[in-house]
Amino acid sequence: METFHIRTFGCQMNRHDSERMAGLLVEEGLTPVRDVQDADVVVFNTCCVREHAEDRMNGQLASLKVLKDDRVVLIAVGGCVGQKDRGRLLARHPHVDVVFGTQNLAELPSLLRSAETSGSVVSVSDGTAAPASELPSRRDRSWHAWIAIAVGCDNRCTYCIVPSVRGPERSRPLEDVVDEVSHAVADGVVEITLLGQNVNSYGRDLYSHPRFAELLEAVSAAGPQRVRFTTSHPKDLSDETIRVLADEPRVCRWLHLPVQSGSSRVLERMGRTYDRDDYLALVDRVYDAVPDIALTTDIMVGFPGETEEDFEDTLDIVGRCRFDQAFTFIYSPREGTPAVDMGAHVPRDVVQERFDRLVDLVKVSALTKNEALVGTVQDVLVEGPSKRDGTLLLARTEGNKIVHFLPPAGRTPEELVGTFLDVRIETASTWFLRGRIRG
Ligand code: SAH
Ligand code: SF4
Ligand code: F3S
Repeated sequence: METFHIRTFGCQMNRHDSERMAGLLVEEGLTPVRDVQDADVVVFNTCCVREHAEDRMNGQLASLKVLKDDRVVLIAVGGCVGQKDRGRLLARHPHVDVVFGTQNLAELPSLLRSAETSGSVVSVSDGTAAPASELPSRRDRSWHAWIAIAVGCDNRCTYCIVPSVRGPERSRPLEDVVDEVSHAVADGVVEITLLGQNVNSYGRDLYSHPRFAELLEAVSAAGPQRVRFTTSHPKDLSDETIRVLADEPRVCRWLHLPVQSGSSRVLERMGRTYDRDDYLALVDRVYDAVPDIALTTDIMVGFPGETEEDFEDTLDIVGRCRFDQAFTFIYSPREGTPAVDMGAHVPRDVVQERFDRLVDLVKVSALTKNEALVGTVQDVLVEGPSKRDGTLLLARTEGNKIVHFLPPAGRTPEELVGTFLDVRIETASTWFLRGRIRG
């Protein structure tokens, strides 16, 4: 075992876990390779939140079989499908050597060694153990660190499989989180993203009341230039957190606040525990406190029993909330979740037609918000050359929007990565902005 390749599916928590897997493997003396063909160890970090994600992963996993035809390769499957399917994964894909669960990440090196000598292994814990403290991490972007503040979820949204694969919510002690942030800053990290399924309830399990606003202030004081966080459940977003968003300059004025549906009836069936009016009132409070905040959301279409009227309520809420961006999903039944037994299946063509209408409206909303930035000067963080046009730089605004612009004369993209520049926004489209360095 000398080289490894990790393929990541799913959410930011998985991206974070992949960086930690890479950190552990590098510590074992292995070297990361870009091309799966060159890897002695291939790790799939998987997602099962929607059927499509799982199918895509299964297809790619099946095609790895040929790698084993001409040489010795170890294949490991971790993450949420590993947690859910356990030994069944081996039955389906006999060429897999290691299956490990969401709580067994730290065992990856020893599981690989054991598979090398004694054949396939499965290690999936169901415990409610405290989240692993700081593990070595090999960051994909040197200037950015993911910091998990809590793992698992105590909510029971009726469509969602995450609580069953990630376990109950367990927060990390506040001091541990702040220490990890300080270490990242000492390593040159300028932007951190705090991660949890529901960051707003951070600390409830450990301290008997949420301490997220306090954590945000403590983390900001540890020195990163930018602090982001995701995801916020609307029912738990406190006025205190909104105040920190407004007052703490290091906390980015960007909020991802999944609404899921604009219909109170659907929200109730989803088990979201807020209704349409609660959400609208919350959004008003956020815009009142932070008028220029970038607000993003998740929306689902085709939840069991969704009527045309329910869907129109969703379109209406999108119109009212002035979202900067929305991730839109078609409801996907997940075995073992309560929504599967609700019946009232919405026909596929109806769902698709609603989905298309929703996407069109989201595009209008995003474009309107982006156009409002034309003429403003934004402090942006450079990520590297633009993928569309290598002569341009790609950077992100505080509101998490992509900006393309020409680098300053005589400077290469490489030396600008991870630095901040002032850029005047000149044009806007749905997905990104274009600008010019302020001269
Ligand atoms: N904890 C986060 C999100 C977790 S999953 C939160 O509560 O917001 C990310 C998004 O996937 C969800 O916001 C939801 O919109 C979508 N999602 C979750 N389960 C789904 C399912 N069964 N079908 C379609 N979309 C789903
Ligand atoms: Fe899933 Fe709901 Fe928990 Fe988010 S809050 S992870 S959608 S159960
Ligand atoms: Fe997917 Fe697991 Fe994240 S199911 S969305 S990778 S928590």
